Amino acid sequence: MNFLNIAQSRYATKKYDPGKKIDDETIEKLKEIIRLSPSSINSQPWKFTFVSDEKVKSELAEFSYNNKHKVLDASHVVVFSVIKDVEAFENNKLTLLPEGTRAYYNRVLKPRGVEQVMTWLTSQVYLSLGFFLSATASLGLDSTPMEGIQAEAYDQVLENDNYKTLFAVAIGYRDEEDKNQPTHTPKFRLEQDQIIRSI
Ligand SMILES: Cc1cc2nc3c(=O)[nH]c(=O)nc-3n(C[C@H](O)[C@H](O)[C@H](O)COP(=O)(O)O)c2cc1C
Repeated sequence: MNFLNIAQSRYATKKYDPGKKIDDETIEKLKEIIRLSPSSINSQPWKFTFVSDEKVKSELAEFSYNNKHKVLDASHVVVFSVIKDVEAFENNKLTLLPEGTRAYYNRVLKPRGVEQVMTWLTSQVYLSLGFFLSATASLGLDSTPMEGIQAEAYDQVLENDNYKTLFAVAIGYRDEEDKNQPTHTPKFRLEQDQIIRSI
């Protein structure tokens, strides 16, 4: 499938088939793909937690609002988190980057203040979400990005210390009856002339 076909056919899955699980080889490919996700100055301020354990999924489901049944029925839930604060970023991830990159960070980004730097770090994790959603579709999987979760409760269930949950993605295989499939419910998107300028 080419990328345009993927964009046309992937969708936010609302109902999963609980009987279909993703095989280990495909999960390993996804882990490698998400590891390769790009980020500004190669900051990589993230952690990705792949959850397949049914007990842990059940615990997370209780803190997932309307996404409860997606968390329960999907094969895996991948929790995307960001390093907990700017100090932790500077003391850990930043030290691994080349000197020129560190100098750029210290000269241009750091003076913007911790709030803006935290927003910038968080943006990098969202970028990896786009990469991940495309990857799942390219591997023939269905997925649902989910901001509708209680992030702090997720942190407690997962015993996150140095990272904060931002959102999660359910991955697996759709229930054939899922009404949100583009074949049932055509995608709503603004037209090109409303969102794209060509100069
Ligand atoms: C960051 C983000 C968070 C989302 N959170 C949820 C969610 O909590 N539950 C859900 O069912 N869909 C969620 N969605 C799915 C969007 O509603 C969906 O992508 C959008 O309506 C476009 O539809 P499509 O993905 O089916 O093309 C989220 C999407 C994104 C990108």
